[in-house]
Amino acid sequence: KKIAVFASGNGSNFQAVVDVVKSGELETEISLLVCDKPGAYAVDRANAAKIPSFIFQAKDYTSKEAYEQAILTELKRYDVDFIVLAGYMRLIGSTLLGAYQGRIVNIHPSLLPAFPGKDAIGQALAAKAMWSGVTIHYVDEGMDTGPIIIQERVRLEENETRDSLQKKIQQIEHKLYPEILQMLLTQGDVINVTKARAN
Ligand code: GRF
Repeated sequence: KKIAVFASGNGSNFQAVVDVVKSGELETEISLLVCDKPGAYAVDRANAAKIPSFIFQAKDYTSKEAYEQAILTELKRYDVDFIVLAGYMRLIGSTLLGAYQGRIVNIHPSLLPAFPGKDAIGQALAAKAMWSGVTIHYVDEGMDTGPIIIQERVRLEENETRDSLQKKIQQIEHKLYPEILQMLLTQGDVINVTKARAN
């Protein structure tokens, strides 16, 4: 299967996926990076890995439909089967959802439905939550609302800082996303996730 990764920023999750594809642990081809921020570090990572990128700015289009139509054209050009959101800071609209229904996943740094949207790590700290974590879920039209595939929790310590929590969460993300993608792309589901992880 061929995937496209969508990212807006640093792209450390994108890199984690690139690395496991390179090592052979994830049997897929990353055909394209889609990025809505021209200066994003994720684009440098794509260039370094020789992965084509489609970079756009929403303001250059008249509507969400218009830029998603442009994205869709690229996805078709590269024969993309599956979309992996990794820090893509835009809601997916009906154009992409219509074309990739059930084939778009996202990773979010909290235990959804807690702390959806921006700065989930800051939200967890501000709420003095005892637990937060990582959620991988299918994408629907809402903000971090689609069906949950898997969650892994992280305990917040007394002296937890933004940096320390972010580090713990990203460590989990970089392991969990490749693992779950391998299952979704090869067996189409994560039914045996507990068993697979125990092995
Ligand atoms: C990750 O924490 C992810 O869960 C969230 O955005 C962040 C992206 O980080 N959706 P990076 O760009 O992959 O480093």
